Amino acid sequence: MIQFKNISSEEPYLIFQDWYQEAVNAGQLRVQAIAISSYNADTELVDSRFVNLKYIDKDRWVFFSNYNGPKAQAFESNQTISALFYWSATDAQIRMRAHIEKIPAEESDAYFANREPEKNALAIASHQSEEIESYEEVVKNYQAALESGDTSKRPEYWGGFQFTPYYIEFWSGDRYRLNKRQVFTKKQGAWKSKFLQP
Ligand SMILES: Cc1cc2nc3c(=O)[nH]c(=O)nc-3n(C[C@H](O)[C@H](O)[C@H](O)COP(=O)(O)O)c2cc1C
Repeated sequence: MIQFKNISSEEPYLIFQDWYQEAVNAGQLRVQAIAISSYNADTELVDSRFVNLKYIDKDRWVFFSNYNGPKAQAFESNQTISALFYWSATDAQIRMRAHIEKIPAEESDAYFANREPEKNALAIASHQSEEIESYEEVVKNYQAALESGDTSKRPEYWGGFQFTPYYIEFWSGDRYRLNKRQVFTKKQGAWKSKFLQP
């Protein structure tokens, strides 16, 4: 589930909330799963992966991850991403372009302190996306972190990322391909809306 905090009353945010609620009501699984695509300017690699969008606070869309892994390195080298939802339960696609950065450290600390110890143990134990001998080794490291005691203190290599969209496209599927596409673009603080051909 995505948590809405201090939600903006700007039109694309209101549409997003409506569409989200419709997807939830229609029983969409993993409704918070969002694909994040990045470009690493140093390695020239383009990559995508799903993350769980945890909350939207005003215009900050927040998820949590390892700060040393490939996605973090890509965000460091190039702060522009694309983000994508597809909800099959309502046949809805939402495409975004956004700027991304880390959230304030205190906000990550507070979030980490309130998570289940089992999840925190994994965040502590995993050097995300680094190679490891076997899956058994992953489990062993996880057990060691869980039994080590304090799992409420956030390691500096884990925390939140926030992205702020400046382009949002709402695509709504139609059985005869008469799909509706509405685009919002933010320029100088104001959203402009237009429709695209399907
Ligand atoms: C539905 C779904 C949700 C996921 N959520 C997260 C998440 O919130 N944070 C995260 O670090 N990885 C998450 N992952 C794993 C990532 O897709 C990815 O494997 C991992 O973050 C490593 O990515 P990187 O090598 O590009 O840094 C999720 C995977 C799936 C399939």
